[in-house]
Amino acid sequence: GTTLGASAAEKGRYFGAAIAAHKLSDSTYVGILNREFNSVTPENEMKLDATEPQQGVFTFTNADRIVNHAIANGMAVRGHTLAWHSQQPGWMQNMSGTALRQAMLNHVTRVASYYRGKIHSWDVVNEAFADGSTGARRDSNLQRTGDDWIEAAFRAARAADPGAKLCYNDYNTDNWTHAKTQAVYNLVRDFKARGVPIDCVGLQSHFNPNSPYPSNYRTTLSSFAALGVDVQITELDIEGSGTTQANTYRSVVADCLAVARCTGITVWGIRDTDSWRASGTPLLFDGNGNKKPAYTATLEAL
Ligand code: XIL
Repeated sequence: GTTLGASAAEKGRYFGAAIAAHKLSDSTYVGILNREFNSVTPENEMKLDATEPQQGVFTFTNADRIVNHAIANGMAVRGHTLAWHSQQPGWMQNMSGTALRQAMLNHVTRVASYYRGKIHSWDVVNEAFADGSTGARRDSNLQRTGDDWIEAAFRAARAADPGAKLCYNDYNTDNWTHAKTQAVYNLVRDFKARGVPIDCVGLQSHFNPNSPYPSNYRTTLSSFAALGVDVQITELDIEGSGTTQANTYRSVVADCLAVARCTGITVWGIRDTDSWRASGTPLLFDGNGNKKPAYTATLEAL
């Protein structure tokens, strides 16, 4: 194929980008989006603070802009995210215990129900494990409601939208030997063993000198897949430039294609200037929307 999306589709996969609703009026941005990508993830518009700014008051205007654009252009939508310790609305940050558990489950149910039938995959729970060598859960108000908050969220999401693939998504889970990777692996294995609904693992894969692309990345992808879940690369960006960056993108794509259940790749933004990494150049297009060596390598690898 001559575009990322078409080439990925020839391999039975998608190639997506995180996008922002307020950029859908930028013709350069939309031109690249519509030409190259066949999946989108709302970068912020489906997060808890965006969709439930006051308790029980749901706002989907900006998320709908993205979903409607995707549907009109034949793109899949990755929903991101139903339950997370970060970007919570103020009212939720101040909650705890049974009230918070109920509020979280109500949020999952209401948002997943609103988008029922329109979401390819939901990041049901994002970033629930701690960094470092312990493999422990991350402390958060949600975690303090009880260890079973993750499975409760997945059960609520399945009931609300039985057709969506339900993913657990995290960062620093790329290196197979890291405690956090093993902890997520054990969570998924436990869920599969006990029949807790889970269909996919999302590896954010934000690569930079502090968390570089690991040589055992393919082992991580295939190990998760062997548990009977899909693996999705959900927030890919790679700090760097030129040939080095291009070769890392090439390796990531090759690793995904080598694993049958690695079903898609999403980059976390379109142009370098769209990146959440303020000073970096981690994406496939430069600030003018021109294809970088990383783009060419990615397309060649697909
Ligand atoms: C980031 C967005 O890109 C920023 O615009 C926002 O200010 C903060 O969140 N992991 C995730 C994403 O799961 O939701 C984060 O997105 C990046 C890290």
